[in-house]
Amino acid sequence: MKKQVLALFMAAVMTGSLTGCGSSTAGPTAGADTTAAETKADAETKAEADTKTEEAAGGVLVMATNAEFPPYEYHDGGSIVGIDVEVAEAIAAKLGMTLEIDDIAFDSIIPELESGKADIGVAGMTVSEDRLKNVDFTDTYTTASQVIIVKEDSDIAGPDDLAGKYIGVQLGTTGDIYASDYEEEGSTIERYNKGFEAVQAMLQGKIDAVVIDVEPAKVFVAQNEGIKILDEPLTVEEYAIAIKKGNTELLDKVNKALGELKESGELQAIIDKYISAE
Ligand code: ARG
Repeated sequence: MKKQVLALFMAAVMTGSLTGCGSSTAGPTAGADTTAAETKADAETKAEADTKTEEAAGGVLVMATNAEFPPYEYHDGGSIVGIDVEVAEAIAAKLGMTLEIDDIAFDSIIPELESGKADIGVAGMTVSEDRLKNVDFTDTYTTASQVIIVKEDSDIAGPDDLAGKYIGVQLGTTGDIYASDYEEEGSTIERYNKGFEAVQAMLQGKIDAVVIDVEPAKVFVAQNEGIKILDEPLTVEEYAIAIKKGNTELLDKVNKALGELKESGELQAIIDKYISAE
């Protein structure tokens, strides 16, 4: 295995030197040294070619997510799209890697990172003290909040009114954790695999309220008649990318890429594509 890698590396270096780098098909090493003699156009063509080769050579970056969370990740026809998908794709490109999406239950994401089945957890995942015991988080990339969805004619007007009610949440989310506090006040928590299933249950009169992140809440409310979001948010949270505890090499790389995406405005452009400013 090691030998093969070395052989490839040598071949890359040789191709690079034989062609004087101009039309190099080599990987990262040869791509790094743009000589002053090259024209700008040359350099650009080369950069493009190098990116492609790096993509092929850089390996696969497995993103664990739960694509039931519009506008961050959701199914659109046959594909999984959304803010997190585009951010992860941009990061993978910067790392010279190919992104692969593993769509699983939300509460399986951290175990998959721990077992090494996935490299990054990108799922509108809120940074919390509890999760930090099991995974590392990158710098945050957006702010969010938990909100309450109720039927338009509901007698629930704010967080205090949740006492004694049936509250629907997505299993294992911060909405679940936060709503669970109300169990002490006589509330019953119904945990669903998908946030939308909780909304459906409320539409069917099975539960009184849903606690979920604000952006998916807006999508679900827009898609269904007769429900609304209460003004007062329950929490303010920050989303970040989760990475296996101790994998500082990947953490640093992803943080660097994320920093560049923030700096260039690309991150904001991706967010703006999916969330229109109020
Ligand atoms: N922000 C919440 C949390 O971290 C909910 C995330 C749910 N994400 C998803 N892709 N289903 O717990």
